[in-house]
Amino acid sequence: MSRAIYPGSFDPVTKGHLDIIIRASKIMDHLTVAVLDNPRKVATYNIDDRLEMLRMVTKHYSNVEVGYFKGLLIEYAQQKNVNIIIKGLRAMSDFEFEFQMALVNQKLNADIETLFMMTNSKYSYISSSIVKEIAAFGGKISNMVPPEVHEMILAKYNE
Ligand code: PNS
Repeated sequence: MSRAIYPGSFDPVTKGHLDIIIRASKIMDHLTVAVLDNPRKVATYNIDDRLEMLRMVTKHYSNVEVGYFKGLLIEYAQQKNVNIIIKGLRAMSDFEFEFQMALVNQKLNADIETLFMMTNSKYSYISSSIVKEIAAFGGKISNMVPPEVHEMILAKYNE
């Protein structure tokens, strides 16, 4: 049985992330989308909001679960009995850091493989940071984030 984990900050989840989630859920028996709760990094959305966004956008995918972790990804993967880490790649600029993380995780546990999925070209320009930058200046983000997330983002900037 293939059990995979798709980790990230998801601050917020974008259409690019959701595209990877849907494609990975089709090739894996079970997929955990895991949010890193990182006390060393200030997030725009707290962990509960990020989990809620992910639960809303994945509710129709029965083999997808949403969770969060603190500390090392590889330890969470072991705890979830997962043998595959899914990562999305958008451009060469993502590659260097992702390559390093994959090698570190391989050193920590050689039984857990990192698999890279190429972004859908429609979403290659999207990142959570770009979404927040545009939203902060009142720009249109509806084509970058799922509709449910769009509403939560607008609510935040209208506070
Ligand atoms: O969405 P992001 O911010 O690019 O996700 C990065 C993430 C959460 C996948 C990465 O920072 C991570 O796995 N952090 C957990 C800490 C860890 O395991 N570090 C060792 C590998 S370098």
